[in-house]
Amino acid sequence: MFGLIACVLAAGGADGALSPADLTCELLKDPLGIDVLRPRLAWRLVAADPATRGLKQTAYRILVASDLRTLSKGKGNLWDTGKVLSDTNWQIPYKGQSLTSRLTCFWKVKCWDQDGNESDWSKPAKWTVGLLETSDWGAKWIGYETNLRPTPVVATYEKPHADWVQDRPAPIFRRTFSAKPGLKSAVASVCGVGLYELRLNGKKVGDHELDPPFTRYDKRCLYSTFDVTKQIKQGENALGMLIGNGWFDVNENEEWNFLNAHWRAKPRFILNLHLTYADGTSENVVSDGTWKAVHGPVLRDAIRNGEVFDAREEPAGWDKPGFDDAKWQSVEVVDGPKGALRSLSMPAIKTMQTLKPVKIAEPKPGQYVLDFGQNIAGRCVLGVKAKPGTEITIRYGERLAPDGTLDMRLMLFGVFAGPFQTEKYTASGKGLESWHSRFTYSGFRYVQVSGLPAKPTQKTLVAQVLHTAFEDTGTFECSNPLLNDIVRITRWAYKGNYVGIPTDCPHREKNGWTGDAHVISETAQFLFENTAAYEKWINDFKDEQPPAGDFPGIIPNPGWGYGIGPAWDSAYIIIPWNIYLYRGDKRILEEHYEGMKRFVDCLAGRAKDYIVEYGLPDWLPPKTGTPTPITSTGYFYCDAKTLAKIALLLGHKDDAARYSELANNIQKAFVKSFLKADGKVGEGSQAAQACALFFGLVSPTDSQKVAAALAANVEANDGHLDVGFHGNRWLFSALSDAGHHDLAYRIATQTTFPSIGNMLKQGATTIWEDWYANNSLNHVAFGCVVGWYYTHLAGIQIDPDQPGFKHFTVRPRPAGDLKWVKASTMTPCGKVAVEWRLTGKTFTLKVTVPPNATSTVWVPCDDALSVAESGRTAASAQGVRFIGMKDGSAQFEVGSGSYKFRARR
Ligand code: BGC
Repeated sequence: MFGLIACVLAAGGADGALSPADLTCELLKDPLGIDVLRPRLAWRLVAADPATRGLKQTAYRILVASDLRTLSKGKGNLWDTGKVLSDTNWQIPYKGQSLTSRLTCFWKVKCWDQDGNESDWSKPAKWTVGLLETSDWGAKWIGYETNLRPTPVVATYEKPHADWVQDRPAPIFRRTFSAKPGLKSAVASVCGVGLYELRLNGKKVGDHELDPPFTRYDKRCLYSTFDVTKQIKQGENALGMLIGNGWFDVNENEEWNFLNAHWRAKPRFILNLHLTYADGTSENVVSDGTWKAVHGPVLRDAIRNGEVFDAREEPAGWDKPGFDDAKWQSVEVVDGPKGALRSLSMPAIKTMQTLKPVKIAEPKPGQYVLDFGQNIAGRCVLGVKAKPGTEITIRYGERLAPDGTLDMRLMLFGVFAGPFQTEKYTASGKGLESWHSRFTYSGFRYVQVSGLPAKPTQKTLVAQVLHTAFEDTGTFECSNPLLNDIVRITRWAYKGNYVGIPTDCPHREKNGWTGDAHVISETAQFLFENTAAYEKWINDFKDEQPPAGDFPGIIPNPGWGYGIGPAWDSAYIIIPWNIYLYRGDKRILEEHYEGMKRFVDCLAGRAKDYIVEYGLPDWLPPKTGTPTPITSTGYFYCDAKTLAKIALLLGHKDDAARYSELANNIQKAFVKSFLKADGKVGEGSQAAQACALFFGLVSPTDSQKVAAALAANVEANDGHLDVGFHGNRWLFSALSDAGHHDLAYRIATQTTFPSIGNMLKQGATTIWEDWYANNSLNHVAFGCVVGWYYTHLAGIQIDPDQPGFKHFTVRPRPAGDLKWVKASTMTPCGKVAVEWRLTGKTFTLKVTVPPNATSTVWVPCDDALSVAESGRTAASAQGVRFIGMKDGSAQFEVGSGSYKFRARR
């Protein structure tokens, strides 16, 4: 009888306790131009009643159709998976009909819950296929005056050259085309290197900034896909294009030698605008020799130096139909930058926020300094009414001199030529003018502006925050406001340092330093959803890896910096592994497995008796350095051990055995070379001790001694850290896991030097590069302590055996004066949230486990019997199973749902 009822209900649909939502393809919502042949589809499960516990998906059915009507009829002409018995709701590779260029794929999904109830279909989502073959473009790369080279200026660190070296303004391009009646769709595929802005009928196309993100242009160039149907009108239309130098054509002498980059050439672009009509016909408007070009209003532009724009040089209406371009020149059809054209399958760089100045000062007559109250990566938008020819200069920096003017000295040293983070705007004089640079960005909190016709108001200059448009998905708050402030400035530092690629700093270098990126990558998994951008950057590693197997220290790279060592290069193992653990997707491991092996084999080949002696050491400790062999060998061990796990996961048993053995040998060699009888590692620096503990290089017995020596060192420093950014990554977890949790908390809450608290006391709005403020004030690496807040204070810990939060642990760890913690993070299953509070002797813990996930929850208590859940004895509460007592906590296994535990402690 019951079976019959269930059957009737199932046939009607919509009775499931779960419904699929948040559909993504290749981690993106309704992406355009996807060029992988088996894109990964994912969704999240929403509970009809959030109070329901133990929700699970037991099956799904995906339909993919080439038009919405077919899909709405419940048909998948491209793919119908049928009912698949599976609890997986993410990264399911498409296995339907072969995908062809420009196809639009509409899809939806339904699922079955733990009781076999069927959900409704999700709302439809879509993706479009990019241009899979080079011939699909039917277009040529074009440029203007591409053979002209500026006269080289010899500038060095000792002999800087303050002026611009670019000798010609950036070109602008145009062409017109006619659109027939009955236009159904218009899609533009475009790549312009270094940077471009595409315009159509007088308006910018899309909302991407600084597009495309930086890649090794001779290996891979990213193109964007825009739906421009609404911007096109019947009859004559005009396309306009501006191109700038970006990273492609760095003209200035600087420390990092981009002047001699392998790919360097004059900017160029390729474009295909595909028009489809209701009658089934289509046509392509492409970049080719028919375009016209001229020098434009961007007189100078450089990624690190800024931009010079003369509004008088902008031909009125140049990007609109009807403009007379008779005097414009022919363009050159040129070679492409050699790199394969690949779709931009990550969020573009966008304007994410706009800030008004919080203070406007006039330290010198006519020279204004605006304080935006926050160190950011971005640019200003200038709004001004001025006489024609008025020159306004905007300089960007993060410090002020005692006299209140901008002090750029500490950020200048890498760039020997050009004005550095300086923009110049010359007014056209035509009413209210609004302008921002297009081909540069700056790291700044302060802006110094001169040449304004009047004292600036709050509207004269506003700051746009630019970064890769990833989502802010994690929240953390606790009773100690200092930690909340540290989370805030870490978040800002991360944003300022993810502009297309992860960078070290947004001003001085803007370089993709690999060590900085991996140190913060676990923290980033909690705070943001940035997987697609990491996947892109890890592909950049592939483009850089030589047959020898190692990597340059910055990626993408103009051709130097191999031998920086494993403390940086290990990003190639650590970041993919973190993505696997936190997002539960093996693809990144599969795609890079061979490269990872070559990297670890390279280290093994260079190691002497399993000790890696070369490379950069722990970076910028306040006092005590750590010998490179300790940190480099620590990373070597981590790499070999992780690679052995990856090999096992991917079914390569022989490799797994080989890398496990390698890891064992490294461990033995490490102990033999560095561990002393008194528990000191090497000379006993904090980073050395923490390295041994964090990576598990010492036996459980020895680790007590090693931890005691570390704790003694911290005590001797009056409860302060003495680590650089690698040591800082290890220190907190190493102490907490070895029984010194309160000490870790003490270090984390210091407000005297050296500490992040001390940075805050001195007005930091982002994390600094070093404890002294001697370098950049916007480096994210030290912010990785926030990861420890999540894993060791809130206590949210992934389970490596069930990655992607399919199963996770909640182990709240009260420490010091901490009274409560409230944290959440977005996972492939949905939102995980933890809130604990200690009131007198009562400990309360609220846990939210998303559908399709399970969790082991630790409740600190004296006695398991004293634990209640939603007012009942926990062990008898619905969906709660008591496992046992461990380390002063009662452990319970729970399924999805919200739980409220209460215990005496
Ligand atoms: C960067 C660091 C980087 C280091 C390595 C510095 O200039 O700013 O963050 O990791 O170089 O050498």
